[in-house]
Amino acid sequence: MSAPLILGIESSCDETGVALVRGNDLLVDAVASSVDEHARFGGIIPEVASRAHLEAMVPTLERALDEAGVRLSDVDAIAVTAGPGLVGPLTVGASAAKALAVALGKPLYGVNHVVGHAAVDQLVHGEFPERFMALVVSGGHSSLLLVDDIATDVTELGSTLDDAAGEAFDKVGRLLGLPYPGGPHVDRLAREGDPTAIRFPRGLTAAKDQAKHMYDFSFSGLKTAVARWVEAHTDSGAPIPTADVAASFAAAVADVLTAKTIAACERNGVDTLVIGGGFSANSQLRDLAAERCAAAGITLRIPPIRYCTDNGAMIAALGSAVVRAGVAPSSLDIPVDSSM
Ligand code: KG4
Ligand code: ZN
Repeated sequence: MSAPLILGIESSCDETGVALVRGNDLLVDAVASSVDEHARFGGIIPEVASRAHLEAMVPTLERALDEAGVRLSDVDAIAVTAGPGLVGPLTVGASAAKALAVALGKPLYGVNHVVGHAAVDQLVHGEFPERFMALVVSGGHSSLLLVDDIATDVTELGSTLDDAAGEAFDKVGRLLGLPYPGGPHVDRLAREGDPTAIRFPRGLTAAKDQAKHMYDFSFSGLKTAVARWVEAHTDSGAPIPTADVAASFAAAVADVLTAKTIAACERNGVDTLVIGGGFSANSQLRDLAAERCAAAGITLRIPPIRYCTDNGAMIAALGSAVVRAGVAPSSLDIPVDSSM
């Protein structure tokens, strides 16, 4: 018997995603983004994002079914992002998923978006090993997860205490006068600079912080240090070496993320690391993770970038794992949870 057909719906931020997954096979992944609309405001306004989801949800669902050549009645279960994310956008996706579950008489599974960022890798690189580490980094989250079973047993070892990695990049991008979202622009600029030019602080790596926050991250002090440095140089009248600033900042972020992650792998006897989330596109992180994983004998899995940014495939992938694990469906009155 073939594995159940899972419809996945994602709407936690600015991407409306609808995907179909059977087992670990992705049939279709349809995404509509409202990022261009948000660029006009220099950030995401939840009400604008909610309205964009409301408009895009049904057309994206129709496109997914059409491209996969699947009828709604073929769907066996519906998975939806229950959190974390923005309440308004999450509510649009959850409402659509609940309506489908009721209309089709099929079970509903509310799943965790951050875990979904790791789960999607199973569609690309195959079944997960028994135990692995996942680093999920984006504009909204920076989390280190110890995964014993992607469907039932995920432990968050640490997360950011303030800004997410992508968010810090976006803020530094704004500081350097780069367009929104600044992350990819800072990355590009950093490749032209000297990463050792300025020694920016590595948040939560001092011995006293390590004791309490061994696997947590903090990037807001780093962002402030960059702002101070730029301010001091602006005052001095000297031209700002923006490429060196970007490179030194990017090096600090990549250093902390990889050092803490690899230490977590070693302490937990884990030899596979999955990196997911939109920030995994960052070349400084990719390069350093590849180098340090190779040195530590850790297998590094990073899905192609279209599966790292928010999408429906990650939610369908996690839904598929949850259904196969025999987890009970969610009740139809499940709330969305912005800080899940
Ligand atoms: O996962 P994602 O698409 O959306 C969120 O859930 O946040 O992640 C987007 C974030 C943004 O902050 C963006 O600036 C950042 O990831 N980002 C990058 C790069 N590509 C995307 N940051 C640094 N370097 C990149 N190459
Ligand atoms: Zn995300």
